[in-house]
Amino acid sequence: MTALILQGVSKSFGKVQVLKDINLEVQNGEFVVIVGPSGCGKSTLLRLIAGLEATSAGDITIAGQPVNNVPPSKRGIAMVFQSYALYPHLNVKGNMALALKQERQSKQVIEERIAKASQMLDLTDYLNRYPSELSGGQRQRVAIGRAIVREPKLFLFDEPLSNLDAALRMSTRVEIAALHKKLSTSMIYVTHDQIEAMTLADKIVLLRNGVVEQIGTPMELYNNPTNQFVAGFLGSPSMNFLPGNLLANEDTRTLGIRPEDFVISDIGPFSATVQHVEQLGGDTNLIADVNGYPVTVRLFGQHRVAEDQVVQLGFDQSKAFYFDAGGERLRG
Ligand SMILES: Nc1ncnc2c1ncn2[C@@H]1O[C@H](COP(=O)(O)OP(=O)(O)OP(=O)(O)O)[C@@H](O)[C@H]1O
Ligand SMILES: [Mg+2]
Repeated sequence: MTALILQGVSKSFGKVQVLKDINLEVQNGEFVVIVGPSGCGKSTLLRLIAGLEATSAGDITIAGQPVNNVPPSKRGIAMVFQSYALYPHLNVKGNMALALKQERQSKQVIEERIAKASQMLDLTDYLNRYPSELSGGQRQRVAIGRAIVREPKLFLFDEPLSNLDAALRMSTRVEIAALHKKLSTSMIYVTHDQIEAMTLADKIVLLRNGVVEQIGTPMELYNNPTNQFVAGFLGSPSMNFLPGNLLANEDTRTLGIRPEDFVISDIGPFSATVQHVEQLGGDTNLIADVNGYPVTVRLFGQHRVAEDQVVQLGFDQSKAFYFDAGGERLRG
């Protein structure tokens, strides 16, 4: 059975439409990441699925059941927020038990589920601590644990890692991927971080201004973006865009080349003045100027390139992307 179906879902706040005709299917066990710039409607979409907001139009079906008129507590979902939203006066165990007590689960079920979740999340030693006595990463794990114990049909995550520092974000990301493998429950995960989207998703939904730009696997979106927005959003550093008229016969088109697809080559066609060099150890990024346009060149390994040096840049034609003046992808 399909875990979630959205059909023609729209949402307006007053006169402002923030989601337009969203259609999406989430399969059982699938990890779907909704990604897009700030304000594009990601959290609103999650809140509609959770039932915390009503849709303005369209239908939501969870595990075969239409839920438009079903309250959040009866939708079989569990949501994890960016802000943790832990109860400060309850210890870890109390926080995890609360929803189960409200569901009137037996004491034995509550004990068993908390034991299982806390083991999975490495929280067994912290059950008697209060949220103020935990690190940010531990608090976030408690928030996830509180969702796991409910054994939902669908997990909803809203930017769960954005309060964590870079190292913790990476390790928690790996934990979430492992958790998904263990639980094999469908997950919908909202982020504005394209690296989280690329690394976690079975399927990415890329939103812009309340509209779905493209849905597909991370590599489909990376290798075959439908438009310039998608091409520029995924990939770090992001794709370079240059006016086609810098090359002969390329008229009004926009040329897109990923930083790793430039090669330093005597025959050009581009002459680039290096403005800044980023030595990352494994890679070297050159930030350069081509006829007044900024480009980033990513070289594998360590390279000594002086600032102000002029380098000739070439590219493999098969790796170039072309877009029309409206940003739509041109093929062939
Ligand atoms: N209750 C509300 N009333 C009016 N406008 C709202 C309301 N909630 C959200 N919006 C607007 O809807 C748009 C989408 O907001 P939303 O919170 O879904 O964005 P987001 O993609 O989650 O952004 P971020 O990455 O910053 O969290 C924004 O322009 C926001 O100002
Ligand atoms: Mg948000």
